[in-house]
Amino acid sequence: MKGWWRMADLSINFAGIRSPNPFWLASAPPSNSGMQVHRAFEAGWGGAVWKTIGAPVLNVSNRYGAWHYGGQKMLAINNVELISDRPLETNLREIAEVKRAWPDRAVVVSAMVESKPEIWHDIIRRIQDTGADGIELNYGCPHGMSERGMGSAVGQVPEYCEQITRWVMEVAKIPVIVKLTPNISDIVMPARAAVAAGANAVSLINTLNSIIGVDLDTLEITPNIGGKGGHGGYAGPAVKPIALNMLAALGRDSIVGGSKMPISGMGGISTWRDAAEFLLLGAGSLQLCTAVMHYGFRIVEDLCDGLSNWMDEKGFAKISHVVGGSLNRVSDFNNFDLSFRAVARIDQQKCIRCNLCYVACNDTAHQCIDLIAKDGSVVQPQSYDIQANGKDEAVNSRPSVHVREVDCVGCRLCFNVCPVEDCIRMIEEPSGRPPVTWGQLSLSQREVTEDWEKMKQYREKMGIEIH
Ligand SMILES: Cc1cc2nc3c(=O)[nH]c(=O)nc-3n(C[C@H](O)[C@H](O)[C@H](O)COP(=O)(O)O)c2cc1C
Ligand code: SF4
Ligand code: SF4
Repeated sequence: MKGWWRMADLSINFAGIRSPNPFWLASAPPSNSGMQVHRAFEAGWGGAVWKTIGAPVLNVSNRYGAWHYGGQKMLAINNVELISDRPLETNLREIAEVKRAWPDRAVVVSAMVESKPEIWHDIIRRIQDTGADGIELNYGCPHGMSERGMGSAVGQVPEYCEQITRWVMEVAKIPVIVKLTPNISDIVMPARAAVAAGANAVSLINTLNSIIGVDLDTLEITPNIGGKGGHGGYAGPAVKPIALNMLAALGRDSIVGGSKMPISGMGGISTWRDAAEFLLLGAGSLQLCTAVMHYGFRIVEDLCDGLSNWMDEKGFAKISHVVGGSLNRVSDFNNFDLSFRAVARIDQQKCIRCNLCYVACNDTAHQCIDLIAKDGSVVQPQSYDIQANGKDEAVNSRPSVHVREVDCVGCRLCFNVCPVEDCIRMIEEPSGRPPVTWGQLSLSQREVTEDWEKMKQYREKMGIEIH
């Protein structure tokens, strides 16, 4: 419970980089200049990763597309922006000024340059001369820079990732964070490369390859740049589940997780709830871009208040006590209890009889929700116009919806489509079967039918874990 006597300590020490709270601006438009980072720090941000610097580029317009859905603006943003288009000297001077003015905040500088050791050595030394607290290596940009052999062209090849990080580590005197691209089939591989090269931390995720849409009037790709469009980087609330999965994959990996390498998490964080989820799956600091681009610097107040209240309620005194707290709950299908049974149960007091659950179960799930008329009879679907009824009839004259629990397989579709909070709950019910996992089932089958020793040796050789 929150009270004056107890307030969670939000400060972090991330791979040696300290900040008063875990919220950092991600390397992106909000951290493009000294003036912006000053204002962000005034608003309360714990740190900022400077918009990626390197040899200046030219950016195009239009450069941002967005995915809006169901009245909600910007569920995702898509961009074809490159790294900073400001002179390198200007960025370096402003970084030094910001760091001098804000000694307690984390100032991390993102860099991306040509894949040559002397060019990397030079940029790393120049960043260090600013007094910055850390360096983030941008191996993630999925457009433009990758076509010139940088960004995700590096991040997608673990050997390049390792090689360039080694060049960086030859001269680095401050912590180095390797930023990973999600445009890869196994996120663990480049992270292992970062560990092998001696990096101090990794961060993820950068943006995903995407085409946001086509304008149905002009037939142009969105955003369109003088009549042409193409793939850009996708970010924002829509990418959060992808980011959480990749974050957990790193935490569970015997090399990356085993090495305890700190991970800075980002990808779809908008609220303190998102932040808490990233922490629980192993993020030691949190970066935000799209939410800041949508609502501005002030969101940091809600982020800090919400996270602090939740930590107080849960009894977490420090951020480090939260980090990774849910990782041991992440498992593989092989380990799930096949005997576990849940069924859907509808609260008739809360139900507004919109019939969404009925349609979902009847058309696409397991046909186990019945429409019950006032006289108790089951309404036959073919004799009932759900749409017309939904529009015209008074709510209490519509048939009510009831789950035949004996037939319910607990798929959870009705729960997901129901528009009323807590109206459908998934209830655990005894299945009458003894607990068993897929792994145990297939093991016992193999024991009687196969040469188990041979299978075991093969799995060990292939590095497949035996559960
Ligand atoms: C418009 C835009 C520009 C970006 N520029 C950079 C960049 O220069 N360097 C970089 O490492 N990441 C860049 N990113 C990626 C973000 O830092 C971040 O990884 C990504 O947006 C996911 O976080 P979010 O869902 O909070 O936006 C950019 C993202 C956007 C939307
Ligand atoms: S959980 Fe699935 S099967 Fe059960 S009532 Fe809902 S939609 Fe039907
Ligand atoms: S979706 Fe929810 S509110 Fe609508 S009929 Fe089903 S239980 Fe009732």
